[in-house]
Amino acid sequence: RIQLQKFKADFLWGGALAANQAEGAYLADGKGQSIIDILPVGQKRKRSLKDPQYAFEQTFDYYPSHQAIDFYHRYKEDIQLLAELGLKCLRLSISWARIFPKGDEQEPNEAGLKFYDALFDELLLYDIEPIVTINHFDTPLHLAEAYGGWQDKKLIECYQRYCEVIFLRYHTKVTHWITFNEINMILRNPFLAGGLPKTDTDRSTIFQAAHHQLVASALATKAARKIDPTMKIGCMLAAGSVYPYTCNPKDIQAALEKSREQYFFIDVQVKGTYPYFAERYFEEQDIHLTITDEEAAILAENTVDFVAFSYYTSRLETVDHELKKNLIEGNAMASVRNPYLKDAGWGRQIDPLGFRITINEIYQRYQLPLFIVENGLGAEDEFTAGQIHDEYRIAYFRQHIEQMAEAVKDGVDLIGYTTWGCIDLISAGTGEMAKRYGFVYVDLDNDGRGSMERYKKDSFAWYQKVIETNGKEI
Ligand code: BG6
Repeated sequence: RIQLQKFKADFLWGGALAANQAEGAYLADGKGQSIIDILPVGQKRKRSLKDPQYAFEQTFDYYPSHQAIDFYHRYKEDIQLLAELGLKCLRLSISWARIFPKGDEQEPNEAGLKFYDALFDELLLYDIEPIVTINHFDTPLHLAEAYGGWQDKKLIECYQRYCEVIFLRYHTKVTHWITFNEINMILRNPFLAGGLPKTDTDRSTIFQAAHHQLVASALATKAARKIDPTMKIGCMLAAGSVYPYTCNPKDIQAALEKSREQYFFIDVQVKGTYPYFAERYFEEQDIHLTITDEEAAILAENTVDFVAFSYYTSRLETVDHELKKNLIEGNAMASVRNPYLKDAGWGRQIDPLGFRITINEIYQRYQLPLFIVENGLGAEDEFTAGQIHDEYRIAYFRQHIEQMAEAVKDGVDLIGYTTWGCIDLISAGTGEMAKRYGFVYVDLDNDGRGSMERYKKDSFAWYQKVIETNGKEI
């Protein structure tokens, strides 16, 4: 055990979940379907994410989000466990389709609103602060079918109504809000992150859809400030520094360009304007956007209060065609395989030092408070007589928290850290349960079989100690 410099006294140690990956109860109390509810498990899910038409046209045997880990019915028992773990905060998302089942109604669904009232109250009972993502990969299905998702401006209006309703309802219970989960994910996964239902969507449409999300995010920020200026609004990035493969200046330039792609959208959310390199990028990529003067003003006037991000690993870029063939899929973005890093299964490599580098890179760029809202290891756990010895997960977190502490020593202003999937939940990428992230094990398999009972893993007591000592004992 090593001694670390202190995190702030009110550092928000936490865990993170998303509605579509945890709640289940996919049609309960008037909820409508979201795009995620038509996605199956395993290879078929991967195919559906690349080719949404496939998912629209098929009927599958099993849809993981329909029951997920049944958090909708078990949240009291789960929150009790998370309170025992010592969490200071829980990042979760509101399911848009619980509040507006189709997405374009004028009036919200009261039963959906009541659910989140009860959920936030339960958290507050244990002094666990809810950190809320407004849209985490679950655009209402009707908005994808009727409007083609975020490519249509109509969604700005629908999202605005949704935000106003939830801000008015929960502003006394929720302080930190994240407008869109991993906004840059739309470039890799236009269906998941943008509800764009066509496979062959061109780049202009994707960037136009992202632009609509940026305007919607800025309008949400504006509404929040009007309703209750104590609320804090954040953007959220799927982060991971991009390294050049060699010191060949061409590799450096390639890495710089790749990195710009990552920061493109949150640059707008933080600085209120498209980055200085956007014009040339659009020109060279033949991307044509419509941005009205009114929209430009909305973006300029309503920038975010903090920058949230997920970190799973770093990325690598090169101009060498041979090396470029050796790709690793990653959780969020594909990358060239890094020979210095360890493989961690499911097409990922682990890079704890890259965590410190990424945190510093983002802080250097924006100088706003940072919130790490996802980090973790998806691994297969062995369940033996109610016990799970997950020393590999402890090792992963230990190495990453050490580097996060280094970044704090570097002088970064860090609000908090929420580990991904503090209770096992279904994977976004594959829909599997076998890819587990939690300190709490859920007895459920990839086909939805199991008792759903919860069990504490060895990492539970370890993280409990980390929180108890405010990161001194890891
Ligand atoms: C992030 C998402 O990209 O990665 C989460 O915000 C997701 O929703 C997480 O679950 C891990 O990815 P996966 O595919 O292992 O679930």
